[in-house]
Amino acid sequence: MKMKESTMTGTTNVRPEILRIETADNQQPMPVPVADWVTIEQLQRDSNAVYTRLLRESPVAWVPVMGRIMISPAAACIAAEQNPEVFSSEVGGAHMVRALGQRPMIRKDGQAHAQERKVINPALRPKSMLEHWGEVFRKNAKTTLTELRAVGPVAADLNTHFAAPVAARNLAALVGLPHVPWQDIARWSADFIAGSGNVTEDPDIWARCEKSKTEANDALDEAFVSLRKTPDLSITSLMLQSGMSEQSVKANALLAISGGINEPQHVATGSVYYLDRYPEIRAGINRDPGLWDALFEETVRLLTPIAMLTRQTTADSVVCGYHIPAGSQIGLVLAAANRDPDFVQDPEQFRLDRPVRRHIGFGNGPHMCAGKWAAQTGIGRIAVPMLFEELTGFRVDHSRSTSWGGFIFRGLTNLPVTWDGQ
Ligand code: HEM
Repeated sequence: MKMKESTMTGTTNVRPEILRIETADNQQPMPVPVADWVTIEQLQRDSNAVYTRLLRESPVAWVPVMGRIMISPAAACIAAEQNPEVFSSEVGGAHMVRALGQRPMIRKDGQAHAQERKVINPALRPKSMLEHWGEVFRKNAKTTLTELRAVGPVAADLNTHFAAPVAARNLAALVGLPHVPWQDIARWSADFIAGSGNVTEDPDIWARCEKSKTEANDALDEAFVSLRKTPDLSITSLMLQSGMSEQSVKANALLAISGGINEPQHVATGSVYYLDRYPEIRAGINRDPGLWDALFEETVRLLTPIAMLTRQTTADSVVCGYHIPAGSQIGLVLAAANRDPDFVQDPEQFRLDRPVRRHIGFGNGPHMCAGKWAAQTGIGRIAVPMLFEELTGFRVDHSRSTSWGGFIFRGLTNLPVTWDGQ
């Protein structure tokens, strides 16, 4: 059986043989090689060096420390994402289902996924950003900026005092829980992420995850009462109005809480980090504020806040000439794909003037990020520009240290910042 070939609208320079995903009837596929040189320490130290080496040397490889076959070329990642019949999101995912209480849309395929996804889309479209959420996100950024000012230019840390609260407040509003303290939303998010990845079955992680799930579900139960009386534009309200079961509404709201904070937070700090590294880009944005959008996109590309997506195969297939058996655990390495020279010209360069701008930092295919426009509006157009507009001489404070963390969800854990005056 031949699987459908994937198409990449508007792309060039893609080696056609990489795009083929087909079952092995008439060719001699190669066995997947083992990349046993990958260690957790290396990933923690410099994950991008590991991912680019995989792309260069072993584009399809069994990586024992990750327990999966990792696929790195952009064209192959896109082809896999566009073929959920073979590269399934639904098969498996038991940890996320346990963490969130029921299977959320990101762990469904086909019609079951499409039915739930189409319900939340209207709340998250550019039009909705323009007409409704932009105002809400601006208010959140202003409140958070006031708090950042209060911390002061000597002690302020952009991750702790601005990026985390602004991302959590925006997400709280999107899920219809604007009254919940951002610290609770952020803690729930961290606990759901830890639970979804708790492959070692650590009982403490499950205990924290259960507690957060109960708190979040209680808050949603309360919100359901008022949203049934007075619907609003939150994704929770839209899901309730659609007649979706309350269990599914909760699972999808918890999914948004777990997946919609870390990444915008990391893009906020990442954008400031790159502007500090490339002052000529900062000067370019001063001259042309229309470039804030390009800054956001280029940051999502080079940072790739979600470095890897997981899938499980439902049939034998051949990717880039390698035989992948049915039932394989797969990692689609977005961080490598976004640095693939066959996909992006001069991929290691941070550039806003690319003639063709493309990346798969938001994924591709049916599960492509639902919150892309919300993140672009809330962070790229509002929160990050506001820092430079409102704080005179806003800059990274190099007298204090910067730190990074994570190799699946990667971002700055500390970014000291300062400005002139109080
Ligand atoms: C810069 C910020 C963000 C990045 C880089 C990002 C990245 C991603 C990626 C890569 C996926 C695909 C997952 C997969 O295929 O398995 C995804 C899905 C998703 N994202 Fe985001 N995300 C961001 C912000 C947000 C925000 C703010 C929300 C809040 C609503 C959100 C909600 C979702 C949801 C609900 C899905 C699942 C969609 C589906 O299954 O159809 N994301 N995101």
